[in-house]
Amino acid sequence: MKHLMSPLDLSVEELDRLLDLANDIEAHPSRYSHSCEGKKLATLFYEPSTRTRLSFEAAMLNLGGSVLGFSSADSSSASKGESVSDTIRIISCYADICAMRHPKEGAPLVASMKSSIPVINAGDGGHQHPTQTLTDLLTIRSLKGRLGDFTIGLCGDLKFGRTVHSLIQALVRYPNVRFVLISPEELRLPDNVRDGVLKKSGQEFREEVRLEDAIPELDLLYMTRVQRERFFNEEDYIRMKDFYILDTEKMKLAREDMLVLHPLPRVNEISTEVDDDPRAVYFKQAQYGVYVRMALILTLLGIEV
Ligand code: CP
Repeated sequence: MKHLMSPLDLSVEELDRLLDLANDIEAHPSRYSHSCEGKKLATLFYEPSTRTRLSFEAAMLNLGGSVLGFSSADSSSASKGESVSDTIRIISCYADICAMRHPKEGAPLVASMKSSIPVINAGDGGHQHPTQTLTDLLTIRSLKGRLGDFTIGLCGDLKFGRTVHSLIQALVRYPNVRFVLISPEELRLPDNVRDGVLKKSGQEFREEVRLEDAIPELDLLYMTRVQRERFFNEEDYIRMKDFYILDTEKMKLAREDMLVLHPLPRVNEISTEVDDDPRAVYFKQAQYGVYVRMALILTLLGIEV
């Protein structure tokens, strides 16, 4: 049995196979519509979510399976003090696979150690969000035609943004990826990712504060929200929240084939006027999230179609 805690739990070859499967699901959805009949997915969400939880549920329903779960700690026995370890033992009796989001870093890993079903990390604190990374990789590979040989700008809250941490871990394994880390000083990438992952990989990277200085050279721009829920005080959040706003004026500085990605939800960091620009692919990205989660469920359950 395999769990998914980080993108590194999958080798590059396994990732390629998973993305191929997701593309096949996109092209031939009806082939897969009964492949999980009789199987159940539990979504254990101790933190709010729209895309991750509902795309997991849509994925399992598209595969002919069923879903159960909770969408907040308050509506589960966590509110009475039940531990994650006990909860997963119980869920193992009710479901075949589970996706867990938790505000505490490492909580899904603790669950996986006590679980008799595959556990998927659906986001743990400011740490990792591997299924968003699978979504991002599928989006990039499908729309750019390759993983590697590009310059990617990661912009916004690089300190608390777990999607960025997971995406960097995954992308350093591909050839010639140049990273431009665009953030205010206070929201720079944590040392363990900058030094422990980026520097160690030998890939080229640099840090910038102004988006305008970086945007002309980018093949991909990955925007992120300032993570209000991870700030210790509201004043700091208010000072930082509108540091970057991507609008049509800034898009004029970008290449004609630069793609704009965002894990969403968006607050103010991308002006809605950008949504009509063909380079804005963040809503398409959310659709890819369903295909890749279908592929992941099939892979972890060992179901071949
Ligand atoms: N991208 C993402 O994780 O969105 P949700 O918080 O809505 O799940």
